[in-house]
Amino acid sequence: MSGMVQQRTLFGRDLEIASQYSPEVAASLYLGDRLDLLRSIPDGAASLIVTSPPYNLGKDYEDEVGIGEYIEGQAETIAEAVRICAEDGSICWQVGNYVENGEIMPLDIVLYPVFRAHGLKLRNRIVWHFGHGLHCSNRFSGRYEVILWFTKSDSYHFDLDAVRVPQKYPGKKHYKGPKAGQLSGNPDGKNPSDVWIMPNVKANHCEKTEHPCQFPIALIERLVLALTEPGDLVVDPYIGVGTTAAAAVLNGRRAAGADIMPKYLEIARERVRQAAAGTLPRRPLDKPIYNPSLPNGGHR
Ligand SMILES: C[S@@+](CC[C@H](N)C(=O)[O-])C[C@H]1O[C@@H](n2cnc3c(N)ncnc32)[C@H](O)[C@@H]1O
Repeated sequence: MSGMVQQRTLFGRDLEIASQYSPEVAASLYLGDRLDLLRSIPDGAASLIVTSPPYNLGKDYEDEVGIGEYIEGQAETIAEAVRICAEDGSICWQVGNYVENGEIMPLDIVLYPVFRAHGLKLRNRIVWHFGHGLHCSNRFSGRYEVILWFTKSDSYHFDLDAVRVPQKYPGKKHYKGPKAGQLSGNPDGKNPSDVWIMPNVKANHCEKTEHPCQFPIALIERLVLALTEPGDLVVDPYIGVGTTAAAAVLNGRRAAGADIMPKYLEIARERVRQAAAGTLPRRPLDKPIYNPSLPNGGHR
């Protein structure tokens, strides 16, 4: 196939990165508009569509438009995402705030009705909390963004065991009653909850590239592990420097994504190759958050 690069992969055969959508390859990275990529993917082919769209803030990769036009553009993307989503699949939209004249407009609130109009079911509104960002002087500084997790039906794939986190008190036992002496928590770990504390990818983060708004690999890995199975297709319509594709390939899933910026797509290709080769710099999902009051910041 033309435009394909080959590399050793976790899939146990040569990694193929296609420049158009192909069901045969580990990763399809398309240079161009998200609708062109999405329209080339068959109905129901994707188990997970996960993305962080432009927030309409006038970054170098987007033209700032009125909020109505922005929502219309998102509605076109969402309609295609719904079409390619498998019956037991999921759609995750990671968004922050659109800001106009100091007024914030949370994009999850603005976009929720668009998803709902397609009959999607909201399973979680995940709050992603991070410690660093702009310091505001006229309002409280923003330190979270949101992931809206929707499913297409009531029969959806969710593997909690794949994403359990350590119990706070692992050996804790019931001290009275019929279960006295038995472990009070699941020894395999607990549900990670709907508040995820992970550093955002700023200057000294090991995953940082020249992209101004990449999300951390771990954020997407947790979704990939919980909502898909090995071999499944994960699609990101606004793939940036390929974080979603890296998270998918690292875990034996297939990926497809689009971006209009050649420089970001080039980095995405390289990161996918590194992910397959095991050389991609990444902050592991289970690495504790730095705590200045603990020895070595609480790191092992
Ligand atoms: C918030 S960034 C996503 C970053 C990505 N999550 C990552 O970790 O690298 C949004 C991306 O959408 C891309 N973009 C903007 N308009 C687009 C369009 N019409 N089709 C595809 N990509 C687009 C931008 O170039 C930008 O890289």
